[in-house]
Amino acid sequence: MAKKIAILTGGGDCPGLNPAIKGCVWAAEKFGYECVGLTDGWKGLVEGLTTPLNREITEYVIMKGGTMLGTSRTNPFKKEDNVKKCLETFKKLGLHALVAMGGEDTLGVATKFYKEHRLNVVGVPKTMDNDLDATDYTFGFDTSVTRAMDAAESLMDTGRSHRRVMVLEVMGRHAGWVALFTAIASAADFVCIPEKTIDTGAMLKKIKEAYAKKKFALVVTSEASELPVVGEGEQKRELDQFGHVILKDRGMGERIASFIEKNTGFETRSAVIGHMQRGGAPTLFDRMLGVRVGVKAAELVRDGQFGQMSALVGNRIVGVPLEKATGQLKTVSKDWDGLMEVLF
Ligand code: F6P
Repeated sequence: MAKKIAILTGGGDCPGLNPAIKGCVWAAEKFGYECVGLTDGWKGLVEGLTTPLNREITEYVIMKGGTMLGTSRTNPFKKEDNVKKCLETFKKLGLHALVAMGGEDTLGVATKFYKEHRLNVVGVPKTMDNDLDATDYTFGFDTSVTRAMDAAESLMDTGRSHRRVMVLEVMGRHAGWVALFTAIASAADFVCIPEKTIDTGAMLKKIKEAYAKKKFALVVTSEASELPVVGEGEQKRELDQFGHVILKDRGMGERIASFIEKNTGFETRSAVIGHMQRGGAPTLFDRMLGVRVGVKAAELVRDGQFGQMSALVGNRIVGVPLEKATGQLKTVSKDWDGLMEVLF
């Protein structure tokens, strides 16, 4: 009987997951394994929720956004009983290995199952935030920034027509990669990233200079930027199952827009691209990266390289220890300061 590999996708979805599932399933079948999908992230392993996965089912998913397996932000380690249930499902389904596709949270859980319970687990890195260490890029990032770049260009058209300052708020959680790349690619006048408290003096100066020349300006901000305004204390925020602050409704774009309007007198509008930037067809880059890391995950299983994750290093896909990827967040480093000074 063929050995069985289960695949799950956890955390926020992103374009590239379906290509990764296809890559993993096609390679696994070629190596003689049978595949099964666990639906809705770790919830699927807790509750034993499965869906068939094979070559035919995954043939045309490469061009589809989202994840065909469904996802959730379930953390099985929040409840001892759920960890037990996961181990029981693993046994009941007769699994040889589990491929977990996700970001720091999902892969953090995968690491724990590998280290504390010796489960045969392999990871596939995904996140539109691009904040995972030990891989140069994660799929999802290229597509979501491309989408945000289009949104920024649309905002510029209307801003130019109305002689307004436009502020675009993008996702990215506590890493500024999405905001930084969107701002560079759309020729924004200023960017606000969570790694640096906003220098309001510099921002206002930049906007006034831009407005004097062009009669409009564009600012791109991350959802998690910080505006050092006296009296604007952060409210208590809801946390998800992994202890992360839920950033939705924080209103960073709106807050920056009203700060700019109040301090410059220029009419200012803000827009939040939100979840629209996480959906839609994956770009070529994300299709290719997804398929490649998916295939590598099946190779890692075949080679018994458990506790590893497939990663992009340079232009090669290699196995790296899961722990390396989840040890710390990859945020915008000081190496980017010079380029930021030139462009903003
Ligand atoms: O981690 C991916 C991400 O899209 C973040 O950029 C964002 O803060 C968060 O997920 C939103 O999560 P949810 O879809 O649960 O609202």
